[in-house]
Amino acid sequence: QKEGYRFFMEKEIYEQSTVIGDTMLGRVLEDRVEFEELDPSLFEGIRSIKICACGTSYHAGLTGAYLLERLAKIPCQVEIASEFRYKEPLLTPDTLFIVISQSGETADTLEALKMAKRAGLKSLSICNVDNSSIVRESDATILTRAGIEKGVASTKAFATQVMVLWMLTLYLGQKHRTLAPETLAKELDAMRHTPRALLVEEKLHEKLHRLSKRYLHGHGFFFIGRDLFFPLALEGALKLKEISYLHAEGYPAGEMKHGPIALADAELFTIALMPKTLLYDKIKSNVEELSARDATILAISPEEFELADDFVRTKNGDHPMLEFFEMMVVTQLLALEISIRLGNDVDMPRNLAKSVTVE
Ligand code: M6R
Repeated sequence: QKEGYRFFMEKEIYEQSTVIGDTMLGRVLEDRVEFEELDPSLFEGIRSIKICACGTSYHAGLTGAYLLERLAKIPCQVEIASEFRYKEPLLTPDTLFIVISQSGETADTLEALKMAKRAGLKSLSICNVDNSSIVRESDATILTRAGIEKGVASTKAFATQVMVLWMLTLYLGQKHRTLAPETLAKELDAMRHTPRALLVEEKLHEKLHRLSKRYLHGHGFFFIGRDLFFPLALEGALKLKEISYLHAEGYPAGEMKHGPIALADAELFTIALMPKTLLYDKIKSNVEELSARDATILAISPEEFELADDFVRTKNGDHPMLEFFEMMVVTQLLALEISIRLGNDVDMPRNLAKSVTVE
């Protein structure tokens, strides 16, 4: 069933363009986003959102919070489920509780959902598995339609979770009239181009295969980004450590000077996410500081960056979300190629299970 791919993860990276189309089908319309599965009363009296999830799904949630606050103007907080459960959170019924889970069976996320329900909150799950425990427990569900994901390292499920959160942002922005019609039209247009941004070009994959050789050794990796690209940096680092067993950290680029830059030397590999459409000058100066301290830089950007030791050029420099999805593919392929070169079992990394049903 790998259909010529070496690993399921590789197949799933290549499937992303198609499954994102499935996620959007019947929901992204000419002039608006609709979710037939949602009863509009779910959002009555809601003034804020709390998102709760684990691992990669948590990173999707962090991405969603930037979108929901910026575009739909709804205050949004994101919590790691295993932390949320024991912190004695203050919950008010004007908060919509959103849980995100690929499997729908993650124990901590399920228990967090039950807790929020006991506190009287309305709940919405974003899930890939219909009829899973989390779907059954929540008041409403948006299915991500990624199809079965076999690789333990989540790829296409993450892409579809982020897409659902983006769509939900536009849906709420329309509903609450917080989104100007011109902005909505621009977002919808970008959304329709997403399947194209997710196509994997042979040349790109070959380049990452070549680059992976250089990035096998060293003190470790920092993935850095700002704004939406900070959660993507976290996700890039998680993917790499899960399947390569190399140390990797995701960091907000502006925070490097508050400590981590002390680690900088040629053996510190920095994967810099440098989108053209979001804070380019800011991230550029953060990367320049690292380069001045001899860090080895792999820049991912549509803009040529002279100080980079290696450079992967992305194309979609006209909308932050298109840049997000294209850079996501680059980080996934980098992790895949490094892991393959190290001879690891990409689909079944050591110590990990696809679904974490124990707390
Ligand atoms: O099924 P879930 O989305 O609830 O799973 C949450 C995490 O266990 C999961 O995302 C994990 O971090 C993946 N292995 C990441 O690739």
